[in-house]
Amino acid sequence: MSTYRRQGCPNLLFPSMIGRQMPAGEEIMAKVLTGDAIEALRRDGFHFPIHGVSEVDAADYRLQLETFENENGGALKGSHRFKSHLLFKWLADLVRAPHILDAVEDLIGPNIMCWNTHWFIKEANSASFVSWHQDNNYWGLDTEDLVSVWVALSPATIESGCMRMLPGSHLNPILPHVDTNAEHNMLTRGQTIDVDIDENLAVDVELKTGDAALFAYQIAHASYPNQSDDRRIAVALRYIPPTAKQMLADWDSAALVRGEDTHGNFEHEPLPTCDLDPVAVAFHTRAEEQQRQILYKDTEWADARVSTSGARAPY
Ligand code: NI
Repeated sequence: MSTYRRQGCPNLLFPSMIGRQMPAGEEIMAKVLTGDAIEALRRDGFHFPIHGVSEVDAADYRLQLETFENENGGALKGSHRFKSHLLFKWLADLVRAPHILDAVEDLIGPNIMCWNTHWFIKEANSASFVSWHQDNNYWGLDTEDLVSVWVALSPATIESGCMRMLPGSHLNPILPHVDTNAEHNMLTRGQTIDVDIDENLAVDVELKTGDAALFAYQIAHASYPNQSDDRRIAVALRYIPPTAKQMLADWDSAALVRGEDTHGNFEHEPLPTCDLDPVAVAFHTRAEEQQRQILYKDTEWADARVSTSGARAPY
């Protein structure tokens, strides 16, 4: 194993934003993000907190989630933990919320697709953790412009196992990863960066209920077990510009949530009219299988259906 070192690199985060810069010396015409926030995203690869949802809405969404869980055999199953904006009307609305899209637009421009939504739920006092990894090593999307908006529906604290991020790691080439399939690892393959991470460099992304964090596709991140007495509940919204392409499969889908689709690289997902709208659920079933094939590509688990019943989802 080699030791991770922060490297300077000429790559620019969120290249689409560059075209939005005003002539030298003038401010970027951002809708909601401050210049400092945009600089932090480019320099560090993440920025927090921003407003995600109100505390009232966070409580309501949690109630809806937990009501669904209670009626469906307990904790949200793997197959329900991704592309969930096709299953839950409130989440379909949240991924289209103007204040969230304004922040995303500041980073990737006015044409925005929601490619995925991922739940990260750690039960109270549970061993679940996320190993150090970079999302762009696994999702097959050919873009530097994927933006994650990670919304806390319960407090994300050091005790509850908040995300940890390695500032500037998005500027490096992809680091080597290995599949560990480790028990309690929430990631599909237990994928782990195969270099030593200096934990002293990492930043704890602590968030109050309703707050959100923005971060880059390439950022190295991890989280530790929840040692609190409450569930740690978060949902991550994944946005891309229509220029993105899926490189690991012939077919992929996304919801056009703002502007226009200038490239046609993704089949457009339907907007559910209610929770478990049959049309959207049928679409989710197709997308679920495809996501599994992408995430398990080149592994012995490619044909396993572990995500339909187990705790793991294709992250
Ligand atoms: Ni991740």
